[in-house]
Order: sequence, then C-alpha cells, then structure tokens
Amino acid sequence: MGMGSDMYRQRILDHYKNPRNYGELEDSTYSHVGENPMCGDEIAVDVILDEDEEVVERVAFRGDGCAISQASASMLTQELPGTTVDELLAMERDDVLDLLGIEISPMRIKCAVLAEKVAQDGYEIYVGERDDDRTVTEE
Ligand code: FES
Repeated sequence: MGMGSDMYRQRILDHYKNPRNYGELEDSTYSHVGENPMCGDEIAVDVILDEDEEVVERVAFRGDGCAISQASASMLTQELPGTTVDELLAMERDDVLDLLGIEISPMRIKCAVLAEKVAQDGYEIYVGERDDDRTVTEE
C-alpha cells in the first residue's frame, strides 16, 4: 500500500466527513431511494436534468451508511453534473471503483455502487422503464 492509496483513503474520509451535495433538491426531475441489503442502509438521490432531459445538471443525496457508501455518493454528485443520461446509465461498477480509487472488498462492493444504482434505477422508473419502485443492490 503506497502513498497513492493513502491519498485516496484521505479523500474518501474527507467525503465521508464533509459529504458534498448532501440534502434535497427542491426541483428535482426525479428522486429515488435504495437500500444495501447487506446492512439495511438507505440512500436517497435527487437528480435535476436539463430541459431536454438528456444531461444531468445537479445531483444531491442523503442517507446513512458506511464511509464507502457515503463517499461514493458524495463523489458521484460531483462527477455526474455535465454527463449525459446515456453516460449515467452506462456507468458500471468499475467506474465507481475508479472514482474511489482504492481496492474495495467484495463485501463492500454493494456499499460502493449503491448511489450509482439509485441514480440509474431512479431514471428508469421516471421514464417508465422499470416497474419496481425499490432499489436493492445486487452486485
Ligand atoms: Fe451499509 Fe456500507 S455498510 S452501506
């Protein structure tokens, strides 16, 4: 474990202690809540899309969870604005792990991808592509 990974750990801790965009967005295009079934922790995500509903403008989150889940949610709220909905939907586990920058144990993968899944599923529910109204991470 070199200096690089220490730096990423510090960053995760910083996002955990000072989560960015924590709270609610009043004019959100869609909101969704999801749960990590391993621990029962829940995260809610609000997303504002542009007028054409093609580009993410703002993201906020709230909820409980471990440092990994909170930090990845916080980082995601900074990463997503400016990306297209298609890019959001194409995001995969590894994109989130890249954001975090450290090795995540298999037990913690669900923590890491929770906010991403909630943001993705929320969109699909919003446009009527999903029936269930609940996200439970399964990766
Ligand atoms: Fe609950 Fe990580 S332990 S989200």
